[in-house]
Amino acid sequence: MPRFTFAQPTRLRGQVPLLGDKSISHRALLFSALAQGPTRVHGLSIGGDVASTAQCLAQLGVAVSRADKVTLVQGLRDWSSPTGVLDCGNSGTTMRLLLGALAGQAGIRAQLTGDASLRRRPMRRVEAPLCQMGARIELSPEGTAPVQLWGQPLHGADLTLPVASAQVKTAILLAGLRASGPTRVAEPLPSRDHSERALRAMGADIRYHDGAWQIAPGPLQSLGLWEIPGDPSSAAFAALATLLHPNAEVVVPQLCCNPTRLGWLCVVERMGARCQLRDLGEMAGEPVGQLLCQSSDLHGVTVAATEVPGLIDEVPILALAAAAAQGTTRFCSVGELRHKESDRLAETLRLLAMLGVSAHSEGDDLIVQGCGSPHFWRQLPFEFDAGLDHRMAMTAAVAGLVGPAAVTLADTQAIATSWPGFIELFQTLTVA
Ligand code: S3P
Repeated sequence: MPRFTFAQPTRLRGQVPLLGDKSISHRALLFSALAQGPTRVHGLSIGGDVASTAQCLAQLGVAVSRADKVTLVQGLRDWSSPTGVLDCGNSGTTMRLLLGALAGQAGIRAQLTGDASLRRRPMRRVEAPLCQMGARIELSPEGTAPVQLWGQPLHGADLTLPVASAQVKTAILLAGLRASGPTRVAEPLPSRDHSERALRAMGADIRYHDGAWQIAPGPLQSLGLWEIPGDPSSAAFAALATLLHPNAEVVVPQLCCNPTRLGWLCVVERMGARCQLRDLGEMAGEPVGQLLCQSSDLHGVTVAATEVPGLIDEVPILALAAAAAQGTTRFCSVGELRHKESDRLAETLRLLAMLGVSAHSEGDDLIVQGCGSPHFWRQLPFEFDAGLDHRMAMTAAVAGLVGPAAVTLADTQAIATSWPGFIELFQTLTVA
């Protein structure tokens, strides 16, 4: 178990080279694997989650190879039954998207599982709509993995999701590509739209009409070259470390600026953050920009329920910002946090309590009483065990980097799920 202690450096300066966005990386592998022809993917995330997707595809007969910074995927319209159990590791995206991609592949028989964190996450939300399309999927009695799947012919359906989920929406759209008729999926609030952008670019008949995404069955064409912009969810940790540190100025040279992913930036700007975003054009249908952040004094805000799907992965690090801000911050309707890699609502409250920050939940709302500056957090060094949750690990690390008390992570392994190189990066920002 590699431990590491994060303490406040005198300053943070430099550039943050991001890995390719994790959400888009999963889609680049999976969609290219279903497309006709080879695809060269540039900038694929090298994190553990995306490696799980690549490994599962290899077991399903798809050739995925990596040389230097380019990953080559040889698309195959029909995959083969996997050799052994498909281990999705820590990755909910791998499991839910694969279920959608496999459900309509007649003759495929697969079993999917994951680590202890993934095995406690809800899968009924993806199984139920896919079964309405005719899929045959079995979950554990608790509605979790391990999952059994028998691929078979599907029919189109008109579906309304009870919770906004890009993973579930994408699973349905992938299943819709193989159904016998059109499929419609409506979500209560817009979730990230990387799948819709990519599927359209790959020639799918997909459109937004009357409050729902509608997709018609048909093949996908390879993009040929798929370039992946930097991960905005990772950028949030570097940006918040900079904003909360007393002497910091950091540039993120190239990040994906898809508006469905930048909710965190809108919130910190509302809190008074000194951030400047410069438009750099587009990469494979996704807007890209450069972000400059400087040390800032923040104040509390209200984060509305409608904003939550666009920043759900960033709530723990935003809660840390709220803990440093002047005044109260309320995050409305963040109950979905309970179903992430850990119960992030409980874990965020646990971390804030260790910092001596007063915070509580009211139903699905999270309320944080800001201290005015990290300087007023508890001075006592402490150890935090984030278990298998990479985002809780990085949130605790940032608390150590910006506050008066050093924070030791009991196990840094989880960080590699999304950002191998996170520790080394902050070592360079400290000496730059
Ligand atoms: C993801 C969607 C989100 C997000 C997750 C990645 C994706 O989950 O929290 O980290 O790549 O589609 P939901 O599907 O629950 O919205």
